Amino acid sequence: MVDQAAKLRQLVEGDAIKTKGAGLFGEDDKNTRIIAVTSGKGGVGKTNLTVNLAIALKEEGQRVLVIDADLGMANVDVVLGSLSRYHLLHLLDPDISLKDVLINGPYGINYISGGSGIEKAKDFTPDEREMLMGKLAGCSEIADIILIDTGAGLGQNVMSFILAADEVLLVTTPEPTALTDAYAVMKAYSLHASNKNLKVVVNRVYDESESEDVITKLDQTSKKFLKMPITSAGYIFEDRKVSGAVRKQKPFMATEPDSLASKCVKAMASSLLYGEQIRVKRGWRGFLNQIFNFSRK
Ligand SMILES: Nc1ncnc2c1ncn2[C@@H]1O[C@H](COP(=O)(O)OP(=O)(O)O)[C@@H](O)[C@H]1O
Ligand SMILES: [Mg+2]
Repeated sequence: MVDQAAKLRQLVEGDAIKTKGAGLFGEDDKNTRIIAVTSGKGGVGKTNLTVNLAIALKEEGQRVLVIDADLGMANVDVVLGSLSRYHLLHLLDPDISLKDVLINGPYGINYISGGSGIEKAKDFTPDEREMLMGKLAGCSEIADIILIDTGAGLGQNVMSFILAADEVLLVTTPEPTALTDAYAVMKAYSLHASNKNLKVVVNRVYDESESEDVITKLDQTSKKFLKMPITSAGYIFEDRKVSGAVRKQKPFMATEPDSLASKCVKAMASSLLYGEQIRVKRGWRGFLNQIFNFSRK
């Protein structure tokens, strides 16, 4: 633990962060998977999935960084049970470094609070962008997987995150309203994403067939109207232990590792790590370039 913390400090304070220009991004850049967790409708389980999936991936030996980019309901810290003093935009202060905004959270999860204002990313001055990019570059050195909790809907902020990420997990429940809103996200994604890699997570199902029905329905509609096949990233059972854990401000993966919900999330982590993957990756540099509207090199 001490070693890990020391290494982290060394990395975030190291030359990679201070140097400007091409050397900003280490060799690990392309090896870091950037996964955006999103949904059409709010309240379908994004934050719980993000935090608990992070723990499951960590248990599989991955170094995980969670970024809370949900402006409306930023609550990764509530579910994780850890408080953040600074958020992403504090990095615009010359005296604040990545180390200050990076929270060495519980369960070995590193975490950055997005805070409000990130939707203004495209209006930043070139100097501000360079400063943010420069300070954020080090994230890919400390994480194998960066999970971004994006918030719901089709707002510009959410869209820019899901279009910039290499992979998207679209969370829905089987409710018709959630499905309609999920379809709207699929549609926008299919129109604008250059490399399409979107998988659906069906949350709050009562049995496996309920999840299969949802995936079949979405896949058929998507193939017909969007010419984009839909695959499943997995499902999570309706489980009272989820809301119980939220009330205790502890992730269910930690408090109830043998619960149905935890087993589902563990299965999802395995399939993300060891299942079939699309290998086209822009990496962290590509992600930041797109978010901050930099020309891609
Ligand atoms: N699998 C589940 N079983 C039971 N309740 C759930 C499940 N997933 C989510 N919930 C409930 O839904 C609430 C909202 O989840 P949350 O992850 O905050 O959604 P979002 O981030 O999409 O707004 C949780 O506080 C919990 O009470
Ligand atoms: Mg949320």
